Amino acid sequence: MPFNLKGRHLLTLKDYTPGEIEHLIGLSARLKQLKYAGVFPKSMKNKNIALIFEKPSTRTRCAFVVACVDEGAHPEYLGKNDIQMGKKESVADTARVLGRMFDGIQFRGFEHSTVEELARYAGVPVWNGLTDSYHPTQCLADLLTIKEHFGSLKGRKLVYTGDGRNNVANSLLVGCAKMGVDFVITAPESLFPDDELVNTANKYARESGSSIELITDAVKAVKNADAIYTDVWVSMGEEDNPGMKERIESLQPYQVNAKLMAATGRNDTIFMHCLPAVHDKEVTTEVFESSASVVFDEAENRVHTIKAVMVATL
Ligand code: CP
Ligand code: NVA
Repeated sequence: MPFNLKGRHLLTLKDYTPGEIEHLIGLSARLKQLKYAGVFPKSMKNKNIALIFEKPSTRTRCAFVVACVDEGAHPEYLGKNDIQMGKKESVADTARVLGRMFDGIQFRGFEHSTVEELARYAGVPVWNGLTDSYHPTQCLADLLTIKEHFGSLKGRKLVYTGDGRNNVANSLLVGCAKMGVDFVITAPESLFPDDELVNTANKYARESGSSIELITDAVKAVKNADAIYTDVWVSMGEEDNPGMKERIESLQPYQVNAKLMAATGRNDTIFMHCLPAVHDKEVTTEVFESSASVVFDEAENRVHTIKAVMVATL
């Protein structure tokens, strides 16, 4: 079935149907193959793309830049000290100015409401490159990685261990539920995701025939997992918040180490991480460097999936 995503924003995967997500993953795989074959369709020729970053980035920034150049577009990096937004100029005014000059806008920053406001006023597609609440382009790269590795998504079991209420966990919750991946979060109860989001994800899971589980016992949680996923215990912007020391202590039982990998009862479970990783905190160097680790596939897949999102929506 053909999907026309032209003009669409990507703020969270909640706004995309399972069919549309599957279409984006398929397009990512095709664009990846073409790049490997040295074929660059340049389908974004003469397009100009604004990349607004309030927070630092390696993968997301580089993926957008490389994807733009591969497809013939011009990317313009706008760091937080480079533009007037948030200081002399409102988000709404910035959106309308950039929308008159650029064909698409990527935003990475703090409040999710900022990317929503950009989308409301820009008049061109706006893509969320991470907010405090969601990281949808990461989730697309992760789904592509799982599909490449196992050949399918439906019925796979992904266990996320660690800070279960951060942007990456939230996006995986939505993406997995929509795509029929059984999704388990194992974390201390204080770090379980928001009830409202869990209810929404449960609705998606019922529609796709998958399941959502929240469980404090990490060893029980990982049983028979296809993939164990973790992320940093302290996200960007949280470093100086009160209670971080206590959070880190409470997360020790949720570290991905050889023992937790063995608790799956399988020898083909993969280890996933959005990166950057803090070695020997949320994951041991042993697991990170092991043959189970697909973290650099995920990193590479950021380019192919971000390219697909831009190509599809422009
Ligand atoms: N995974 C990810 O978004 O990495 P960056 O923070 O380097 O962009
Ligand atoms: N949860 C992490 C993800 C980094 C890609 C953060 O927000 O810092």
